[in-house]
Amino acid sequence: MPEIFLKNVSKHFGRVVAVDRLDLQILSNAFVTLLGPSGCGKTTILRMIAGLETPTEGRITIGNKVVFDSDHGINLPPNKRDVGFLFQNYALWPHMTVYQNIAFGLENLKWSKNDIRSRIEELLAMLRIDQFENRYPSELSGGQQQRVAIARTLAPGPKVLFMDEPLSNLDAKLRMEMRAELKRLHRDTDSTIVYVTHDQQEAMTLSTMVCIIEKGQLQQYAPPLPMYNNPANLFVADFLGNPAMNFIDGHLTGDGVLSFAGLQARFSAFNAVTLGERDVTVGIRPEYVRIEKDGALEATVYSTLPSGMETTVKLEVNGVSLTSVVFGDVDFQVDRKVRFSFNKATVLFDRESGRTIARGALTLL
Ligand SMILES: Nc1ncnc2c1ncn2[C@@H]1O[C@H](COP(=O)(O)OP(=O)(O)OP(=O)(O)O)[C@@H](O)[C@H]1O
Ligand SMILES: [Mg+2]
Repeated sequence: MPEIFLKNVSKHFGRVVAVDRLDLQILSNAFVTLLGPSGCGKTTILRMIAGLETPTEGRITIGNKVVFDSDHGINLPPNKRDVGFLFQNYALWPHMTVYQNIAFGLENLKWSKNDIRSRIEELLAMLRIDQFENRYPSELSGGQQQRVAIARTLAPGPKVLFMDEPLSNLDAKLRMEMRAELKRLHRDTDSTIVYVTHDQQEAMTLSTMVCIIEKGQLQQYAPPLPMYNNPANLFVADFLGNPAMNFIDGHLTGDGVLSFAGLQARFSAFNAVTLGERDVTVGIRPEYVRIEKDGALEATVYSTLPSGMETTVKLEVNGVSLTSVVFGDVDFQVDRKVRFSFNKATVLFDRESGRTIARGALTLL
C-alpha cells in the first residue's frame, strides 16, 4: 500500500493562510484522522493530496510517485493519483438510482456486469441500504444518501481512501455503527485511509494516528491514546476528551512545589525535566478527579449530570471549579460536601506558551 508524504506544504488563499508549512508522513495501511476546529484547514489538506487543490508550495508523494512539487513544476491531475475521494458535500447523481450511482464508476473501469452486481450487493448489505437499490436520491433521507455516497467511494476498492466528514449526516446511533463498520473495513481491505472530522471522539476511536491542526498548523501527530495522555500543548489537551480536561492556574517554585486552587502539592515529573520556577496551568482529566469517602480533599457539589453509565459532577474547591466523572449510575446532592482526591497523572503546561512542561504525579503537602 502506498505511503503519503507531505513536505513543507502550504496553501494561501489570498491573504488567508489555510495550511502552513505542513510536514506529514502517512504510513501505508494507516488510518489517519485530520482533526481540528472548523476552518483549520482539514478539507484543504485532503484536497491538496487528492489533487483537487494546488498547493502554494511544497512537495507531495504518494507511493513512490511525486504527485506535486512546486520547485520542479510537477502537478499530477487527480485521476493519475489512484485515490478514492468522498467529499464533505458529496453529490449523488439525481437522475440515477442508487444502483446506477454506484455502478457508474465501475462501468467506467470496464468491470463485468456480474462483478458489478455482486460488488454492489455486498456494499449495500454492509451499509444496510439494500432495500433502496432502485430508489432515486431524492427519495432517500440524508443519512441514506450519505451511505450511498460511501458505497460509491468504496466500490472500486481504492488503495488510498480520503473521507471528509463522511458520517456527519447520520444520527448518533447510526454514526456509532458506521464507525465500527469503517474500522472493520480498514482492517479487511489493507487500505490507507485519510479521514477528516472535527469530532474528537470519532478521531480517537477510529484512527491509528491523529493529526491535530489549528489555524493551518500541525499541533501534534500521534496515536490516539498516547496523544490523550501526553498532549504536546494546551490546545491538544483541551481538544481531546469529553468532558474536557480541567485547567487550573498555578505556580511552580524551583523546588517542585506546586500551588493551585488554594492547595500545595509536590509535583514529581515522570520524565527527567528541569521544571524551573514559573506560572503554570495545571491540567487534570475529569476521570482522575476521584470522588471517594476517604479522599484527602473536600469540595462542594455545584451540579451533577447523571447519564446512567457515568455522572459528570462539577465541584467547587476554594473558589475553583473542577469537573469530575464518576462511572456507574450514581448521583450526588447539590451544595453538599464530598471528599475527593487526584488520582494518576497531572499535566503541567507553561502558562505563557501553552506548551507541555511535564506529566507527573501530585502529592499533597
Ligand atoms: N476557495 C477558497 N477561497 C478562499 N478561502 C478558502 C477557500 N477554501 C478554503 N478557504 C479558507 O481556508 C481555511 C481552511 O478551510 P478548510 O475548508 O480547509 O477548513 P476545514 O478545516 O475543512 O473546516 P470545516 O470543519 O468547517 O469543514 C478557512 O479559513 C477557509 O475560509
Ligand atoms: Mg472541511
